Amino acid sequence: MNRMVEVLPDSATLIQRSLEVVLDKMKAAIAGRGQCTIALAGGNTPRPLYEHIATQDLPWRSIHVFWGDERYVAPDHADSNQGMARRTWLDKVAIPAMNIHPMPTDEADPVNAASKYEAELQAFFQVQPGEFPVFDIILLGMGDDGHTASLFPHTEALQVRDRLITVGNKDGQPRLTFTVPLINHANTVIFIVAGAGKRHALDQIFAPEADATTYPARLIQPQGELWWFLDQLAGQDLKT
Ligand code: 6PG
Repeated sequence: MNRMVEVLPDSATLIQRSLEVVLDKMKAAIAGRGQCTIALAGGNTPRPLYEHIATQDLPWRSIHVFWGDERYVAPDHADSNQGMARRTWLDKVAIPAMNIHPMPTDEADPVNAASKYEAELQAFFQVQPGEFPVFDIILLGMGDDGHTASLFPHTEALQVRDRLITVGNKDGQPRLTFTVPLINHANTVIFIVAGAGKRHALDQIFAPEADATTYPARLIQPQGELWWFLDQLAGQDLKT
């Protein structure tokens, strides 16, 4: 694992720097393999990043967008990660509808939805059951509790190693989420973390020893590149 950590002075420079690396990785993937596969984070931090990506002149037909996790709500629900990315980015660019791969949240049982999305990934990436597709880019945020995607502390989702997608659990509410091994197979994983509320979890995640089931972002040790972009409030004094 090749880990890069950058602390930026404020949220604007955090987003600007993240944008630079995301665009660089997108263009490299397209130049190298003819397409880019990117999985998006939800929550609030990445919103301005998505708004900036929407202003770029990119070969949208070569970009395929997935989600690393999703709240189990309809796309038009205020909490939907799909809805947020469409409003801030995807509805503003000429990306073909077939290049947008949302997590399904219309199955009565989220377990079935997880299996459906897993099958969709296996078909798209042409991998066999048991094999893990390699995303070009996976964007992640991190909660104050050290969760990432919908891999919450002390939940069963943290232990799943033989699936691509599983059902996460946030205070009893179901989520769909990439599993730890799927994230760790990516070429580039990028965390974007802002705010003083994240500082304690970051200290634990970067500490030599800490319990990974308490701070799940510790489990993210990708075979490729791992980037942490932090604003000053989150990352000042962090021992990396
Ligand atoms: C989600 C996210 C989640 C998010 C963190 C940080 O569905 O909420 O994928 O993992 O990245 O909770 O959220 P903020 O960026 O809003 O702090």
